[in-house]
Amino acid sequence: MSAAPGNDAPVAPVDPTSTRAWGRLQELADRFSPDLRGWFEADPGRVERLTHEAADLRVDLSKSLVDADVLEALLALAEEVGVTRRRDAMLTGEHVNATEDRAVLHTALRLPADARLEVDGQDVVHDVHEVLERVYTFARSVRDGSWTGVTGQQIRTVVNIGIGGSDLGPVMAYEALAAYRQEGLECRFISNIDPTDAATTLAGLDPATTLFIVSSKTFGTLETLTNARLCKAWLLAGLADADAEEAVAQHFVAVSTALDKVADFGIDPDNAFGFWDWVGGRYSLDSAIGTSLVVAVGPERFAELLAGFHAMDEHFRTTEPAANVPLLMGLLNVWYANFLGAESHAVLPYSQLLHRFPAYLQQLTMESNGKGVRWDGSPVTTDTGEIFWGEPGTNGQHAFYQLIHQGTRVVPADFIAFADPAYDLKDGDTDVHELFLANFFAQTRALAFGKTAEEVRAEGTDEAVVPARVFTGNRPTASIMAPALTPSVLGQLVALYEHVTFTQGVVWGIDSFDQWGVELGKKLAQEVGPAIAGDEEALAAQDASTRALIAYYREHRSR
Ligand code: F6P
Repeated sequence: MSAAPGNDAPVAPVDPTSTRAWGRLQELADRFSPDLRGWFEADPGRVERLTHEAADLRVDLSKSLVDADVLEALLALAEEVGVTRRRDAMLTGEHVNATEDRAVLHTALRLPADARLEVDGQDVVHDVHEVLERVYTFARSVRDGSWTGVTGQQIRTVVNIGIGGSDLGPVMAYEALAAYRQEGLECRFISNIDPTDAATTLAGLDPATTLFIVSSKTFGTLETLTNARLCKAWLLAGLADADAEEAVAQHFVAVSTALDKVADFGIDPDNAFGFWDWVGGRYSLDSAIGTSLVVAVGPERFAELLAGFHAMDEHFRTTEPAANVPLLMGLLNVWYANFLGAESHAVLPYSQLLHRFPAYLQQLTMESNGKGVRWDGSPVTTDTGEIFWGEPGTNGQHAFYQLIHQGTRVVPADFIAFADPAYDLKDGDTDVHELFLANFFAQTRALAFGKTAEEVRAEGTDEAVVPARVFTGNRPTASIMAPALTPSVLGQLVALYEHVTFTQGVVWGIDSFDQWGVELGKKLAQEVGPAIAGDEEALAAQDASTRALIAYYREHRSR
């Protein structure tokens, strides 16, 4: 594969509302009367037709709120806005990140070593595997104890310092792959500039056996650099007898695209792993940003994770639209968000190990698709980016499922479960994983088919409370299952949602790969700093509400 020279200018986005398909979908929405009970009864082939395989994932979309007409119109919409054309442009390295004039090539991070992809004159597969090998060599040396701290002791704890995409991916995957970690080697994560994070994360650690990985694409992020300095001071205070330069060399490594800034911070360039501007922060788990994970689970398992990502990429690249799972899920999300009024989307893993997965997806989906202008600067004419949220089942069942079952809002939900548990426990003769999965199966059934007033009455319910006990059903879900939560399956899941996000972004015509919306707050924080510290001129430059809030702070700060 290679990017066609001169083919880098982004094609103008199509206004989706101007397409024939959009008009058709609007017509269908106006008279839409979902009836999952009726649809299932009348159509014995529905489950088979709406269930698709993507790598090791089995994705059942039969409990979605779609009929054949809606599906046909959604696929026509994808065709009219050019989803597959833009997918191919992304995969071959065209500059689809228009506002930053960059290629978007997280998919290149998981290409096998013998693949070839030349972008802007550079063989990116070669570069990717060169760094990967260095990360693997480093991780092996930490795991086998040959990398020691400055006092000669083996490393017992690796602390990743990063935020956003330089934290959420590694921490999510570290939790998800708990069953694959090396015993006696722990990873911790510091992200927040709230000093509590560094203080509590470092508590109880021995500097002599602790290694820090400073992860920052830009190496300019205030939170990460502040935390890195706090950790350096903590390390040097704890290793007062050691030579400071040697201590930093043995206890600090860095991951960044800005290797010059890494050197300025005092980290030996030999201990730095690079990546490239064509990897977005929220798409960077499988770059060197995943180094803490490689240390935790080992290069072999990390390679399986990458192979899982690649398997889903291949599904997305090669499968016809009607059976292309990320594309279908993305289109369904558009249907829900733009035609059925859904404002949020729940992701509900029936796996405690995926407890950080919804948080990870929040950055992936909302930083990508929370945009109000298209990639050519024109304003969008539809709603974009739903609010993604979630918690593992069954905990959520006892907290917020009430609203999903009986509330007035449409909340499409993805349910995720695995046939094999990571930890197989029995309660007497009862297989606890089966108890757990019974809830997974029951919830999507209840949401889809509900419970009628007649069914409630038939249970002898007092007439006065019948309405409160009715479940309307027709609440859309997707059920995603896989044999087990292996590294490969985790990679497939993440890539699935990357491509779902991409599909939605193309329909809306937005640049899913920039994040200008985070800039203003960062800039204002810099300006407000002096005002808090007592600079009266800076204080006067603030608005009245902010001045009053700062005054409250000054009055109540006890030191
Ligand atoms: O502020 C948002 C953001 O730029 C994210 O996109 C990114 O993942 C995060 O900050 C961290 O950035 P960096 O890796 O450059 O420190």
